[in-house]
Amino acid sequence: MNRCFWPENRKVFLYGDLQGEPELRVEIASYLRQIRGVHCTPEQIIIGAGTYHSLDLLFQLLRDEVKTIASEDAVNAGTKALLGQHGFECRPLRLEADGIKLEDVYESGAQAVYVTPSHQFPFGMTLSAGKRIRLLKWAQEQQAYIIENDYDGEFRYGGKPIPSLQGLDNGGRVVYVGTFSKVLTPSFRISYLVLPPMLLERFRLMRHSYDQLASPILQKTLQLFMQAGDFERHMRKMRSLYQRKRDILLQAIRQHMPEDMEVIGADSGLHILIRMHNGLDEAQLIARAKQAGVAVYPTSTYALVPGLVPPSTVLLGFGGLSAEHIREGIVRLADVWRD
Ligand SMILES: Cc1ncc(COP(=O)(O)O)c(C=O)c1O
Repeated sequence: MNRCFWPENRKVFLYGDLQGEPELRVEIASYLRQIRGVHCTPEQIIIGAGTYHSLDLLFQLLRDEVKTIASEDAVNAGTKALLGQHGFECRPLRLEADGIKLEDVYESGAQAVYVTPSHQFPFGMTLSAGKRIRLLKWAQEQQAYIIENDYDGEFRYGGKPIPSLQGLDNGGRVVYVGTFSKVLTPSFRISYLVLPPMLLERFRLMRHSYDQLASPILQKTLQLFMQAGDFERHMRKMRSLYQRKRDILLQAIRQHMPEDMEVIGADSGLHILIRMHNGLDEAQLIARAKQAGVAVYPTSTYALVPGLVPPSTVLLGFGGLSAEHIREGIVRLADVWRD
């Protein structure tokens, strides 16, 4: 960050490129190719100030063409709010162990689908390779779009890595959405869209009511960090650190929790879900955890349609906790969730 203020980087004091700094876009394109199998040029990338800013931009681009969006039936609050604000009709897609139910997509009549295929948020399943191919085929036949939110695709601990939908797409139907919030830190507020050529053209023709919202200073900092190879080193280190934390979490659960509870979505990402079968509902699980000084989070709030709420299921994050806190947290939860 100090280097941003060296004389040759004077342009960080200006508003910056509407699409995001070109030098950063070069780094992101190369990173996405290597790590996520995304095929794009730096010109296809639009930097944003967080996923919701990027989705807001994208929905502006789609609004005239798309009336109905089919979405995984559990989505985070920000996405749900944006879909509503842009006036899209939403069709829920039921979730199975290998991702969305394709029959629901075929019946949706939608012109776009919103998915988190690497690690469904919040349920954590991965969209299978077979379903990816069928979804792409559907999008090609219907001339529909697939919005691929790959918010934490970098952290996968088991099984074969599955390439992004964008990397499998030959027809320009996938919009890839990414963020540095998980791989680095949310306080950078830097996200990006990878647009297919047709939407890129539309972005260029669009009247823009504001300038680029991601700070050129932070964009420059990130570019220098990536260019020097430090980001790649950071990623390698964090992947093994998070895997270790996840293993400690699963081991503590096996040791202290009752046998009939379920762990959901532990193959990737920075959170897991726990489903209890002890008669306590979601609110009771959260309230008892809070009394014990442990924060666990609801999953019912993510239901796209009221009524599709999973029973007694809570979310636990482990990315920012020490091994000791993880173990202690599980011991306390097992204690207060008994009976
Ligand atoms: C599905 C999903 N997308 C994106 C993000 C990150 O959003 P942002 O880039 O605004 O930090 C999150 C954060 O938890 C998320 O759950």
